[in-house]
Amino acid sequence: MPSFTERLGEYVRACFTGLWVQTHEPHEAQAELAGLCRRENWQWASWDLEQGFQVAGQPVDQDLRDPLSALRAVNSLATPDGTVLLVLRNFHRFLQSAEIVEAVTRQILLGRQNRTFLVILAPVVQLPVELEKLFAVLEHELPDREQLQSIAQEIATEPSELPDQSELAAVLDAAAGLTRIEAENAFSLSLIRHQRITSAAIWELKQGMLRKSGLLELYQGTEDFQSLGGLEALKAFCKRALLQPSRGNPLKRPRGVLLLSPPGCGKSQFCKCLGREVGRPVLMLDPGNLLGSLVGQSEERTRQALRIVDAMAPCVLMIDEIEKAFAGVHGSGDSGVSARMFGTLLTWLNDHASDVFVVATSNDIAKLPPEFGRSERFDGLFFLDLPAARERQAIWALYRDLFEIDPAQTTPEDEGWTGAEIRACCRLAALLDLPLQQAARNVVPVAVTAQEQIARLQTWASGRCLSANQPGLYRTGTANDPPRRKVRRDVRNN
Ligand SMILES: Nc1ncnc2c1ncn2[C@@H]1O[C@H](COP(=O)(O)OP(=O)(O)OP(=O)(O)O)[C@@H](O)[C@H]1O
Ligand SMILES: [Mg+2]
Repeated sequence: MPSFTERLGEYVRACFTGLWVQTHEPHEAQAELAGLCRRENWQWASWDLEQGFQVAGQPVDQDLRDPLSALRAVNSLATPDGTVLLVLRNFHRFLQSAEIVEAVTRQILLGRQNRTFLVILAPVVQLPVELEKLFAVLEHELPDREQLQSIAQEIATEPSELPDQSELAAVLDAAAGLTRIEAENAFSLSLIRHQRITSAAIWELKQGMLRKSGLLELYQGTEDFQSLGGLEALKAFCKRALLQPSRGNPLKRPRGVLLLSPPGCGKSQFCKCLGREVGRPVLMLDPGNLLGSLVGQSEERTRQALRIVDAMAPCVLMIDEIEKAFAGVHGSGDSGVSARMFGTLLTWLNDHASDVFVVATSNDIAKLPPEFGRSERFDGLFFLDLPAARERQAIWALYRDLFEIDPAQTTPEDEGWTGAEIRACCRLAALLDLPLQQAARNVVPVAVTAQEQIARLQTWASGRCLSANQPGLYRTGTANDPPRRKVRRDVRNN
């Protein structure tokens, strides 16, 4: 993909006189633009609220502090066959004024004749309707691994402070997704703490930075597929898709899976284990956290989160309980906020070229807009049914072991139980020092409390979803258990 300055250069040559650059690092973007102008022999000037108007290499012009004068002043720099760029930092703040919008419009049209260009650097894309068609929008990307490496080299003073060849890739993976300044800070702190740039220190910092941003959460656990009973077909599918070697061609990259199941069947847990299993970081996106209070903020936050995800590729992106956040998409009441957020996410799911494996989970596909499950967005739509007898056995074995339950104890009647309920029963037995049979009396399975919803879900999934437990399509009544599960309430009451 062409770099930011290459793309901007193309727009200038094609005479796009209004350019909006979305960046969280305006000073970096400006420095890159200055380099471009030097290479191309273009003149450039800048304006911001604090410094006012400044022609490159000359003292600040004190008379041109207000944005309107700066917009006009750029014309004085135009020459018959020259090109002039005026870089306006954080100019989005001034576009509420009708006078400024007028002046920008006029300048953009005039710019076509005298080759003067307005380049707005702002962290958001917030164009008033009058200007929408006059600006081309570009993104100033987060630094790639090569740029991160040169930042590390600039920060370290001794060769011994730099990671050695075997650790370098891990350090760059850890730093991917940080802005240049964040990466610089992370490297410096790692040096102060460990006298070396280490990946462990950067992961730790990144976890904190992501949490602070409220956009994403980085999950770093130790569980792998061994801590999940059953789900064999799903495990095999994802491992095969993610570990196949020929991922050079973006078309061949796996895109992800959509998991559907009743609560407590291990969707979230599966996703967390997957990262460890295939050696990728797991990023968790909670769409509820992306909702902002101002108009346009939710979309903006969604885009920002997806940029970080792209920069952190290869990774696993978990979008848990996706139906809850997007439930209102076709309804009213939130003035279209979730619809627009959902649109941004859908577009990304379709178009992203980064090596990101998405695992989206849902308890109720009926609440999702139908376009979500379209096949090209995911490699598979899997249904995790209530575990069958053989899977329950595997799950019991795991948790009996984990909670150190006496192997002599008999397993309670567990028909219709989910993994979560088996775990809860073992935990209770260990916590209260009770036999499993007694602990089981405190477990009310979701198959009882939500019997109708589960039956509906199973019927919907039948013939539509792949089975998570065995190869092929899921069909109700084809599991190891007899046709339809029934839960006898009285079992636990005797
Ligand atoms: N197949 C399984 N093997 C081992 N543990 C399981 C299994 N299924 C569920 N669990 C355990 O049950 C608990 C709940 O699982 P999890 O949160 O993954 O369910 P979920 O499908 O995401 O539920 P929800 O729809 O409510 O979010 C976890 O502690 C998980 O370890
Ligand atoms: Mg869950």
